[in-house]
Amino acid sequence: MKTRLELEAGDITRLQVDAIVNAANSSLLGGGGVDGAIHRAGGPKILEECRAIRARQGGCETGQAVITTAGDLPSKHVIHTVGPVWRGGDFEEARLLADCYRHSLELAVRHGLKSIAFPCISTGVYGYPPELAAPLAVQTVTEFCRSQTGIERVVFCVFSPKDEQLYRDVLKA
Ligand code: AR6
Repeated sequence: MKTRLELEAGDITRLQVDAIVNAANSSLLGGGGVDGAIHRAGGPKILEECRAIRARQGGCETGQAVITTAGDLPSKHVIHTVGPVWRGGDFEEARLLADCYRHSLELAVRHGLKSIAFPCISTGVYGYPPELAAPLAVQTVTEFCRSQTGIERVVFCVFSPKDEQLYRDVLKA
């Protein structure tokens, strides 16, 4: 089955999907931006599981992903991935950002999930230029979903009008 790629504007914590992705940091202990919104809306269960993962494997490296419950959120799981900090583009930022999308999708497949929503990873506090991140995100997801993954729906959740326009352009190109 072909995977549907969709665009949603607004707060990712409100989406009803099998997993929403969190733009976390390597401590997995929460932060600002979308990370803060997810922990606030999802309640303490998410942090509890993040702490257990930290105890087992010591956090999460850039480009990697881990999965927890979604606590009180309407989604079933949160996949926490750690995007790269933008340092000008010569420090493997593109490969690491693509890894975030790939590893999140791999986790979703391993857990038999059928729908997943991504925020614009790294493009907030971490400073990745949104006009470079949007085509990379769409291309990486499209390539991953070319094989039979069981994923029926991937949602790109945009939070700013600028990102909405960027993704609209990339998705129809
Ligand atoms: N729903 C969807 N998207 C959102 C929401 C929301 N509720 N809130 C913000 N965004 P950022 P990063 C968008 O800074 O750049 C945290 O402190 C936001 O507009 O959340 O990967 C972590 O703990 C932007 O487009 O993540 C890390 O330390 C996108 O989400 C660090 O920030 C990502 O912005 C990670 O930085």
